[in-house]
Amino acid sequence: MSSKEIQSLIGRINSIHASAKGDIASDKTATYQLLLASRQLNAALEDPSEIATFNAFSGIQLMCVRLAIELRIFEKLASAEKPLTAADLAADGCAEEGLIVSVARVLGSKGFLAETKTSDGNNALVANPMTRHMTVPSVRARSIFHYDSGLPILTQGLSYFRSTNFRLQKGHDPCLFQFAHDTTDDSYVFFSKQPGVMENFSTYMQGYLGSEGYYAPAEWFPFDEVCLRDFDPGRGEYVYVDVGGGKGQHVQRIVERFGDGVQGGKFLVQDLGPVIEDIDKSGMALDARIEKQAYDYMTPQPIRGARAYMFENIFHYHNDFVSKDILEIVKEAMVPGYSKLLISTLILPEQGVPFALAVMDVMTNCVNGGRERTEAELRALLESCGFRIVKFWYPPAAGNGVIEAELA
Ligand SMILES: C[S@@+](CC[C@H](N)C(=O)[O-])C[C@H]1O[C@@H](n2cnc3c(N)ncnc32)[C@H](O)[C@@H]1O
Repeated sequence: MSSKEIQSLIGRINSIHASAKGDIASDKTATYQLLLASRQLNAALEDPSEIATFNAFSGIQLMCVRLAIELRIFEKLASAEKPLTAADLAADGCAEEGLIVSVARVLGSKGFLAETKTSDGNNALVANPMTRHMTVPSVRARSIFHYDSGLPILTQGLSYFRSTNFRLQKGHDPCLFQFAHDTTDDSYVFFSKQPGVMENFSTYMQGYLGSEGYYAPAEWFPFDEVCLRDFDPGRGEYVYVDVGGGKGQHVQRIVERFGDGVQGGKFLVQDLGPVIEDIDKSGMALDARIEKQAYDYMTPQPIRGARAYMFENIFHYHNDFVSKDILEIVKEAMVPGYSKLLISTLILPEQGVPFALAVMDVMTNCVNGGRERTEAELRALLESCGFRIVKFWYPPAAGNGVIEAELA
C-alpha cells in the first residue's frame, strides 16, 4: 500500500469524525463507518506474515476460547474484585495451572483478557470489556455452537467440495452437513437429537445472531407504519406471525414497542416443536398477546390472512430451490392486497462484504446448503415466486435489513 493510499484512508477517518452528529460515541452510523474505515487502514498497515501466522493458527485461538468457556475463566475474572493468578483460576480443581497459563497467554494476545501483576509482583489476569462480553449468554452460546457443532463440519469441507467437484448444493441434495455427519437428517433435526444442542442454539439466537453489536429490526424498523397500524380483524385474527421465530425474542420486543397501538390482534411465534417446548422450560416470559405454535414451515401454513408473516434469519439457511418451496407455502396463506411478507436478513453489498457477513454466507452454506444474498439476488428470488417488492429497508448500522413484499 502506498503512502498516498494510507493518507487517503486517514483522510476518510478524519472526515467521518468531522461529520459525526454530536458525541461520536453515541452516533451509531458514524462509529460503524469509522470501524469499517479503520479496518481498511489496519489491513493496509498489517504485515502479510502476521496475517498468515494468524490464519495458520486460528484453530488454536478457537480451542483456547472454548477451553476458557468450559473452565469458566471469563466468568471468574469478570466477577473477581481483584486480579487473579492462574493458581487462583485453578484453585477449584477445574484444570492444571499450567494449562490455564498457556490458554491465558493466547487469550491475552488476542485481547480476550488483560495481564497485570498482583500487589506482590506475581503474574495475574483481569477482566477487560472483551472478557465481560464473553460472559453474555448468547455470545458464549455462539462460541460453543460454532466450536462444538460447526468445526467438525468445516474440517470435512475440502473432502466434500472435492466430492462435488466444487459445486454448491442443488435442490434438496445432501450438503456438507450431511456429508460430514453421514446422515440424511437436516441440520435442525440432527441437532434436536443431540442433547443440549438446540437449547444452546436458541440461547445463541437470543442475541442478534449471537452478536450484541448487531442492530435488530425490532429496534429500528417501523413495524407500526408498515403493518401493525392497518391490521383488520375482519380478515384474520393474527396481526403478526413470526415464522421460525425461535423462542419469540424478536416478537416480544415488537409487542413491547408497538403492542399498545394495535387493536385486538394476536401475535404468534411459530417454530419446530422442541424449540417451542423450550420456551416454557427456559422460563422465557412472553407477553400475554403472543401465542406459541409448533409448526414446520415446509408444511401448509395454518394461519391464514395474517397482516404480516415475518421470516427472520430463515432464508439464508436455504438455497433458492428450497426457499422457493417455503415462499410458495406462505403465499397460499396470504390475502392479496392485505397480507405483507417481511424478510429480515443480511443484505450483502455487491463488493467489499465485511468479514462477519462473508463468513455467515459460507457457514449457512456448510450447515444447510444456504447462502446470504445481495439485493439483486433477493429481488430475483421473490419475484420468481410472484411477490412484488415494496421496499428494501436498510439498517442504520450493522445488522439485518428488512424486505417488505406483497403478493404481486
Ligand atoms: C437462525 S434461527 C432464527 C431464529 C429467529 N427467527 C431469529 O432471528 O432469532 C432459525 C430458526 O428456524 C427454525 N426452523 C428451522 N427449520 C424449521 C422448520 N422447518 N420449520 C419451522 N422452524 C424451523 C429453527 O428452529 C430456528 O429457531
